[in-house]
Amino acid sequence: MNRSFFSGILLFTLIAGTLQSASPDPVFAEHGMVVSATDQASLAGITMLKKGGNAVDAAVATAFALAVTYPQAGNLGGGGFMVTHLADGTDFTLDFREMAPQGAFRDMYLDSTGNVAEGRSLYTHLAAGVPGSVAGLLKAFQDHGSGNLSLKEVLAPAIKLARKGFRISSGLARTLNVFHDYFIRNQSAAEIFIRSDGRPWKAGDRLIQKDLARTLKYIAKSGREGFYSGPVAEKVAAEMKRGGGLITAADMARYEAKYREPVRGTYDSLEVLSMGPPSSGGALLIQMLNMLEAIPLDSLGWNSSQYIHYLTEAERRAYADRAEHMGDPDFWDVPLKMLLSKDYAAKRMATVSPDTATPSAQVFAGDPLPYESRETTHFSVVDQAGNAVSVTTTLNTSFGCGVVVRGAGFFLNNEMDDFAAKPGVPNVYGLVGKEANAVQPGKRPLSSMTPTIVLKAGKPWLVVGTPGGSTIITSVMQVILNCAEFNMDVEAAVAAPRVHSQWLPDVIMTEPNGLVKDVRVNLQRMGHQIIPYRWGYIGQVNAIRVTSDGLYGGSDVRGENAAVGY
Ligand code: GLY
Repeated sequence: MNRSFFSGILLFTLIAGTLQSASPDPVFAEHGMVVSATDQASLAGITMLKKGGNAVDAAVATAFALAVTYPQAGNLGGGGFMVTHLADGTDFTLDFREMAPQGAFRDMYLDSTGNVAEGRSLYTHLAAGVPGSVAGLLKAFQDHGSGNLSLKEVLAPAIKLARKGFRISSGLARTLNVFHDYFIRNQSAAEIFIRSDGRPWKAGDRLIQKDLARTLKYIAKSGREGFYSGPVAEKVAAEMKRGGGLITAADMARYEAKYREPVRGTYDSLEVLSMGPPSSGGALLIQMLNMLEAIPLDSLGWNSSQYIHYLTEAERRAYADRAEHMGDPDFWDVPLKMLLSKDYAAKRMATVSPDTATPSAQVFAGDPLPYESRETTHFSVVDQAGNAVSVTTTLNTSFGCGVVVRGAGFFLNNEMDDFAAKPGVPNVYGLVGKEANAVQPGKRPLSSMTPTIVLKAGKPWLVVGTPGGSTIITSVMQVILNCAEFNMDVEAAVAAPRVHSQWLPDVIMTEPNGLVKDVRVNLQRMGHQIIPYRWGYIGQVNAIRVTSDGLYGGSDVRGENAAVGY
């Protein structure tokens, strides 16, 4: 399979959204808010809040509605992470990342010559990990839902949207048309996502997903068992057999969502609560904020050459650590203490020159000894009581591996590409990894997803996250800095142009209007190489700023994201 073809369609999809030069005002609400990739999903969440549910109930309803209305990334066949701060002070982070099937092995993506087989970890049945989303959402609902709503009530909006269909937006019509040839490869995908008369989709067409509605009903009736055993699990196993994949009914039954210790840091008077391994997101976010805390960023000026230089140097060092040290903590001893240490961050920043780029070839991962005895979608929810939920879920690239489970109506992920197929060989996001993130049965691939809650004086201040592969972490950081250092309102903070750097390749990537000319020239003089981000715009941040006045929603103008409140 030709990777550049898919890069091309991803680029088209992302630049099809327009980034406006002036951001709209944030959406204001007094009681509760959901900001997600579709208006139907945000509305599903708000409906739960109005019925007496809490932010967790709303998050679960939103996620299931995204699985219907945002098929490129919302999912049943993928995975994700949830970061939550409850009004009673309880924090929890839930890992429902996909898992390598028991039949997986270290070199499964290498050909007979020992090279990475083009596209195998992305566009085949072998690309799919055991899905985690359903387990995670149900666990969160069961353990932390309000208890005021039944599972049937929480799934009702998604079931209705799938069974009766919904009118698609211009953005979804465009995306489905761009991916037409991707769907042709898989009969079930083609039957659902190509118009029955073969003509291009247009805004206002109705998308009906009957198989998906049936799967959602199984879940509503039997909970976890409705997905991980019985007819749905059997259909997944049959799909795998048909396409030469590895996931068995036993793999499905074995899948477990796991509570993980949250990663925590501070940035000035703010507390950062985020997702730990198997995501690299929270740890790298905190590490980079630690590195930048001592630099007077506000006085350097937003997106000035000095500002971008310091961000890039921090990013370079942090992503070098990611490549060496990070993987599934159940399989690899991740040196979190070092990665989160302010002292370590200061030592890393001491090697930064104020006016010269450090070539990435001269930057290596840190030595943990002195310190020790990762197309995706994000939504944010805050309820009236002050409960805050930050959730990022993914199929990896848009529509995952392109395989819809026959008779079950959902796409399977291609998350196995987030493993290091071979040490030092970049994945679809250009990320490299080593042994820490090698394929092993039962292991979860390293992620960059960074669902985050920033607290001030113990209360939610900003709920934030984004899709975007390797750029997720740096996008979340830039939005936090836009609010904290430059006092932007949340919509402006989300809409502001972004840049990204990740150690390798040794470049600064920018959005089309990311940096003005003299800033580019100054950065080039310092030794930085600047290239356009290959997929056009960077991320789609959905955030909520919690203030004493109420809730302000920032939905990213890079897509059709929707902030809905009441
Ligand atoms: N699949 C993108 C990530 O998890 O980082």
